[in-house]
Amino acid sequence: MIEIKNLIKTYNIGGQTIKAVDNVSLMIEKGDLVSIVGHSGSGKTTLLSLIGGLTMPASGSVIIDGIDIWSMGDDKLSEFRNKKISFIYQFSSLIPTLTVLENVMLPTAFGSHDENAEEYAKKLLDTVGLKDKMTSYPSQLSGGQQRRVAIARAFINKPEIILADEPTGDLDEETEKEILSLFHSMNREKNITFVIVTHDKEIANQAKRKLKMGNGSIKEL
Ligand SMILES: Nc1ncnc2c1ncn2[C@@H]1O[C@H](COP(=O)(O)OP(=O)(O)OP(=O)(O)O)[C@@H](O)[C@H]1O
Ligand SMILES: [Mg+2]
Repeated sequence: MIEIKNLIKTYNIGGQTIKAVDNVSLMIEKGDLVSIVGHSGSGKTTLLSLIGGLTMPASGSVIIDGIDIWSMGDDKLSEFRNKKISFIYQFSSLIPTLTVLENVMLPTAFGSHDENAEEYAKKLLDTVGLKDKMTSYPSQLSGGQQRRVAIARAFINKPEIILADEPTGDLDEETEKEILSLFHSMNREKNITFVIVTHDKEIANQAKRKLKMGNGSIKEL
């Protein structure tokens, strides 16, 4: 369960203070699949990074499974994040000097003890349709293929929560359907909680719960 209480994040731009996230309170149950829509600049990415412990709020709290994540020190928070949370970033986040397979396996280098990581990485790459690209480098892939590598990587540490920022942004319709069905089956079978920021009506409509951000605030749809 994720409990978000009175979360505020401000940015100072040229002497002006803007509230990117403006007093958001929200409960997300374990195993939920939530979509967040909203105009560009409404605070969606900022909210995801606050929830995932990447950006520190000005005030308010994020409590995951009873633990206030911002009360932990940096090391503890990294460990907690690595164990429980995966991100699919809005923009490419692959390491250019690593192969596709190495990119997917990278999160296992920080603490996971799964000996079968390589096998699982290959299985995930197969699931996203990139089995034949395992030894390629990111620069040799299309934007949509790179995105699918990032999606495969998000599952490697068997997270409890996946925070996805426009995960199907540059995918064709058919691939998008496959990714969406992967999310739904991982949600169903492994009870992974999904929070998905999207402009896509199909994804939003298929979510169990729909939220909309506007000007830093959030409401149920
Ligand atoms: N690092 C930053 N420094 C200053 N301002 C920022 C920063 N990150 C975001 N903002 C501002 O905070 C507001 C919310 O940005 P955010 O990226 O969360 O929007 P978004 O809803 O994800 O938009 P999009 O749909 O375009 O991705 C915007 O006004 C943006 O300019
Ligand atoms: Mg964004």
